[in-house]
Amino acid sequence: MQDLQSLETEITANLAGAADLDAVENIRIAELGKKGRVSLLMRELGKMTPEEKKEFGPKLNQLKNTLNDAVQSRKDSLETELLNKKLQSESVDITLSAAETDLGSIHPITQVMDEVTEIFTEMGFSVAEGPEIEEDFYNFTALNIPEEHPARQMHDTFYFPEDEEGNRKVLRTHTSPMQIRTMLAGEPPYRIIAPGRTYRNDSDATHTPMFHQVEALVIDKDIHMGHLKWCIEEFCKKFYERDDIKIRFRPSYFPFTEPSAEVDIGCAFEDGEILIGEGDDWLEIMGCGMVNERVLENVNLDPSEYQGFAFGLGLDRAAMLKWGIPDLRDFFAADLRWLKHYGFQALDIPSLSTRTSVVRGSK
Ligand code: PHE
Repeated sequence: MQDLQSLETEITANLAGAADLDAVENIRIAELGKKGRVSLLMRELGKMTPEEKKEFGPKLNQLKNTLNDAVQSRKDSLETELLNKKLQSESVDITLSAAETDLGSIHPITQVMDEVTEIFTEMGFSVAEGPEIEEDFYNFTALNIPEEHPARQMHDTFYFPEDEEGNRKVLRTHTSPMQIRTMLAGEPPYRIIAPGRTYRNDSDATHTPMFHQVEALVIDKDIHMGHLKWCIEEFCKKFYERDDIKIRFRPSYFPFTEPSAEVDIGCAFEDGEILIGEGDDWLEIMGCGMVNERVLENVNLDPSEYQGFAFGLGLDRAAMLKWGIPDLRDFFAADLRWLKHYGFQALDIPSLSTRTSVVRGSK
């Protein structure tokens, strides 16, 4: 029988020198596996005399246990080594300064649309969207602005060329066509707002050819001017974030509402600045009125059964007033310095696109 001591020394040295887990496993198989050297020695025990067995048996067992332990401990230490290496190579250096990223910002118009939408949806309005390239019928005729009506001239309309039937499409001059589209698309009651782009051939510090409006329409049984007034007052308080806001309804004229009014809010003009809610001056912020009976008839509603109100608010104007932005043209100049200054951080305000219901009407 081989010198067990020297065998143990040899194998333990091999294990210590094993570079990785595979090498350890190879040694284990070669020594302790079925045909391994130690196993073969164990087998030889059977051929021994009882005396020899008594002498070698325990020694062999001892050797086997020692080697098993040595294999395990070498495996453990190699595994720890491997883990440490991994931890080191994969560690995150939190002292490294972050790479600079360009943060985008929300355009004041988007912000104002979100805020206005938020206020009205809380009051129970839903959001409707419609086309910017509009048919004459929705933009004018159905709204009680027939051909040759002077109000058509007021709107400085961008017209498309006539089609074969002589119809001209227009870039919608207001969001009011959404009143018609909404009422033709479903059954009353209606309680919608329609924010969006509108177009008129006009350009100076307070007018751009493209601008934004939000239309509101409420039609139900027994709706009266008190509802209109409450609704607008409530909106102004929330939007301008003051409870003491002064509001004035000034009689006006729109073909699609009767009676009609213009809404002014109290303000002060000081050093070229406009202060909302202070002073004795007035500033016009929207047009409104009770929906004209003729408009209701145009969409096949019985005015003796259904009544309601509508208003149209200039969003660009509202943004200028709320945040003191002086020139409207800058809104659309796409100057990043301006956007950085007047833009907003992306707050967690649900955006229009997540809850827009598209209303499509037909004649
Ligand atoms: N559409 C009108 C405008 O653009 C505003 C308005 C809307 C007035 C609804 C009354 C009712 O001037």
